[in-house]
Amino acid sequence: MNLSVQLAPTHPCGLLLENPVMTASGTFGYGTEYAEFVDIQRLGAIVCKGTTLKPREGNPQPRLKETPSGLLNAIGLQNIGVEAIIKQKAPMWASWKVPVIVNIAGESVEDYGRVASRLDGVAGVSGLEVNIGCPNVKAGGMEFGRDPKEAAAVTRAVKAVTSLPVIVKLTPNVTDIVEIALAVSEAGANAVCLINTLRGMAIDTASRKPALGNIHGGLSGPAIKPVALSMVYQAAKEIKVPIVGCGGISSAEDALEFIMAGASAVEVGTIQFVNPRALIDILEGIERFMQKEGVTQLSEIIGAAHN
Ligand SMILES: Cc1cc2nc3c(=O)[nH]c(=O)nc-3n(C[C@H](O)[C@H](O)[C@H](O)COP(=O)(O)O)c2cc1C
Repeated sequence: MNLSVQLAPTHPCGLLLENPVMTASGTFGYGTEYAEFVDIQRLGAIVCKGTTLKPREGNPQPRLKETPSGLLNAIGLQNIGVEAIIKQKAPMWASWKVPVIVNIAGESVEDYGRVASRLDGVAGVSGLEVNIGCPNVKAGGMEFGRDPKEAAAVTRAVKAVTSLPVIVKLTPNVTDIVEIALAVSEAGANAVCLINTLRGMAIDTASRKPALGNIHGGLSGPAIKPVALSMVYQAAKEIKVPIVGCGGISSAEDALEFIMAGASAVEVGTIQFVNPRALIDILEGIERFMQKEGVTQLSEIIGAAHN
């Protein structure tokens, strides 16, 4: 059986994964935190925590709140900064078989370009995932990914300074996801990832105050799966570059739904907080399905629901 996927067919070096199971940024640290539960070298790829130019302390506590079938988080991109990634993490990644993709974030278009340029040519970094769900400080805090022009500007700024394959990760907090997916793919994204978290909030009735220090947070987990799946299906109809599906994937069955909706690979996040072995369970479940159904190449079922 061949589970391999080429995530960047339009890139000179490509981004070949042995299988389609990836980690979702911010839920798997830098790859070592889950090593006790998961043989990380079996994964398709690891996407590390969102990385900014300077280290960030993140938002005030509380930062997490469970919801029915979901999780609200307002971590606020706490991270060690790009220089620490280069010095402390990349040398370790360079000795791994599994490709590591660095998720990057910024407060301005220039910021994204600076982070991307620092990571160019760093051994151990196989690709960039650009989180365009971040607030644009110059535009009053509106997320870059809510405006096709800004989304394209970030994509172009990153592409201009990197020789690495670029995946642009879209925010679902938009009216028309297809418009944004088209804008970033036309601006040069080698692949897109759908979706990041959905904006939400909760109120603690005992204190009569918002439950999160940041008031608003991002909703993830099984609750968002149907929304994510529908966006992947819509985007797959219109764009030519590969799609990485993400949002509420908890089982192999969920992952297969995303693949049949048109995703070439999947990212798994929140469910790991419930089942730390989820990534391997999902990989083995996909293999079992392919065996049972006589599917020899994963590519046979990518987008099957459109036929
Ligand atoms: C605690 C937490 C931290 C996250 N941090 C990031 C991040 O730094 N960058 C990013 O692009 N997405 C981040 N995300 C979003 C996830 O990567 C993913 O897109 C989202 O959670 C939906 O997938 P899931 O339902 O499988 O978790 C974070 C999600 C959670 C729950």
